[in-house]
Amino acid sequence: MIASHVPLMFPPASDDASRVDSHWQLMLIIGSIVWVVVVTVALVAVLRRRRSTEPTDDAPGPTTGNGHLVVGFLGAVAPALIIIGVMADSVLVLRDTGSTSSATDAATVVEVDGKQYWWEVRYPEHDVETANEIHIPTGQDVRVELTSSDVIHSFWVPQLSGKVDLVPGQTNVLTLNADEPGTYWGQCAEYCGLQHAWMRFVVVAHDEPEYAGWLEAQATPAQAADPAEGEGDDFESGPGSAPGPVSDVAAGREIFMSSSCVYCHTVAGTEARGTLGPDLTHLASRQMIGAGVLPNDRESLARWIEHPQDVKPGNAMPGTELEDDELEDLITYLESLE
Ligand code: CUA
Repeated sequence: MIASHVPLMFPPASDDASRVDSHWQLMLIIGSIVWVVVVTVALVAVLRRRRSTEPTDDAPGPTTGNGHLVVGFLGAVAPALIIIGVMADSVLVLRDTGSTSSATDAATVVEVDGKQYWWEVRYPEHDVETANEIHIPTGQDVRVELTSSDVIHSFWVPQLSGKVDLVPGQTNVLTLNADEPGTYWGQCAEYCGLQHAWMRFVVVAHDEPEYAGWLEAQATPAQAADPAEGEGDDFESGPGSAPGPVSDVAAGREIFMSSSCVYCHTVAGTEARGTLGPDLTHLASRQMIGAGVLPNDRESLARWIEHPQDVKPGNAMPGTELEDDELEDLITYLESLE
């Protein structure tokens, strides 16, 4: 499990996240001051009470003068002022950040559809579909259109922006903007069922040329997906490699296409057109599987294909029984979908 990649707020990596961060720091400072004042007053009260209960001849009564009135008045006015002040800053943060702006003129539009328990990601202008991984160019506003196919989810990339809910029957919009190239972890932030905690994703920010390259690669069907490739042709499995495992890829492809995989998954350029599960056209290019529950490697793919309900109970994928060599071929095929 990639448990070390817990989404964190720090360090903020966009203007929006910095704004949220400064609001958080303001609240931390005010909260700390209030805490110190309250604890000090409480301690003073306890110490004075202890002294006043020691037997003396002329112990003063519990109330003296107008002090209590003054302190009581401050105790009502000071919290009201603090709360109004913090609320005013909250409203300004909401106004200034992408949680409410719609970036209608953004050059990049990404559609994100929340599912139990993964994220479908589409680039409508480029005919690209992927899952649990959102690639964006740095230094510009990206319009993210959020919908849900089932229940309410919440889109949250703490280092980049605030949270926005994904609500069935409605499109909400969030503006994402990353200052620097990098990988930023996201997490569903609204309880949506058994595997809510394993509804993670990454936002990968690239500089402009790299992003264009990624987009172009994703818009092209993976080479091995084409039935004309693979059979007879050498399949390059790596730089400088000898003629690769042609037969394994072709055999794995055959297993994929003749099994129940195709009812739920799409591989562009093939007859696999299922839409219930993630689009697998470029599965091998992704960092993880199962929305963050496993890294994307052979061993994890094998576990996931055979026992998805053990790895992530309650997800929609049923286990598939295969002979060992069939499983190996199937994984080789999946790993060829770069
Ligand atoms: Cu989706 Cu929590």
